[in-house]
Amino acid sequence: MSEVIAPESGSSIDAIENHYGTGNDYFALWLGKTMAYSCALWDDNNPDQSLDDAQLAKIIHHCDESHARNSQRVLDIGCGWGGVMQHLVDHYNVKSVTGLTLSESQKDWVNNGTEKRIESRLESWKDHQPDAPYDAIISIGAFEHFAKLGMSSEEKIAAYREFFLKCHAWLGSRGWMSLQTVAYGNSLTEDFDEFISSEIFQETDTPKLHEIAAGCERLFEVVRLRNDRDHYRRTLRMWYTNLRARRDDAVRMKGEEEVKRFERYLRLMAYMFEVGGLDLHRITLRKIDQPKSSA
Ligand SMILES: C[S@@+](CC[C@H](N)C(=O)[O-])C[C@H]1O[C@@H](n2cnc3c(N)ncnc32)[C@H](O)[C@@H]1O
Repeated sequence: MSEVIAPESGSSIDAIENHYGTGNDYFALWLGKTMAYSCALWDDNNPDQSLDDAQLAKIIHHCDESHARNSQRVLDIGCGWGGVMQHLVDHYNVKSVTGLTLSESQKDWVNNGTEKRIESRLESWKDHQPDAPYDAIISIGAFEHFAKLGMSSEEKIAAYREFFLKCHAWLGSRGWMSLQTVAYGNSLTEDFDEFISSEIFQETDTPKLHEIAAGCERLFEVVRLRNDRDHYRRTLRMWYTNLRARRDDAVRMKGEEEVKRFERYLRLMAYMFEVGGLDLHRITLRKIDQPKSSA
């Protein structure tokens, strides 16, 4: 692999706060009980399934795929409002979960609880220095922030490699990792409305599948990969419906223009998943203990 140095690669703390700091109470209006802000796992045979039920199924999927049950230490990279962390300690007998986020309001939401087995840190994975190995790693909906628009494919791969090298170093022998990310599907960067990159997710570029594969090759074996792009269409539609149902409250909190912006973003993204411009990958990875060097 060529030696490309990743520049200041991912979204900055300001770019993250610009979106996720919109307000915990605002997101709580439409995300549902789990506060999960990522694609749910839907039962394709059940058109009446609730969002909360599908979000729980997603959480269970990642807890299972990361083999976290009965673990001492689990890391959640991009932990959001902590739904996975809470589930791990409540239902998977995990002793301690560390979550990383770049959003102060998310960190406070998690740490304001009385739960001592989970801790959210305002810290990028780039700066994380654990004092002991992890038994399992979960990362849902954060990988999209690890590169930004304008980076070449080689630079993106270098940034993803840096991420996977760290995860590899932090995991115990043959450890498991469960990753979920949006990726480009049948689309090019220019197919996307600039509105998303300038007003919603600044300093962000989603990966292409081959870039994820190049980032993790000879570090992790890919055990399973599923593309659930229609699940994200369904999730975004539900968020949109929920926001519309609580529109008066949302406007009182954030004002008409901000709510319109969110409505437009949720509709646009749902469309991109519907037509296959975006994919949603859930990837189960297992650490290769002795990676071969290309040198
Ligand atoms: C779309 S949210 C997903 C949150 C959560 N995993 C979920 O499914 O609800 C993306 C998360 O990634 C975090 N994030 C983005 N870049 C990060 C970085 N470099 N280090 C740690 N967390 C990061 C954000 O702060 C946010 O918590």
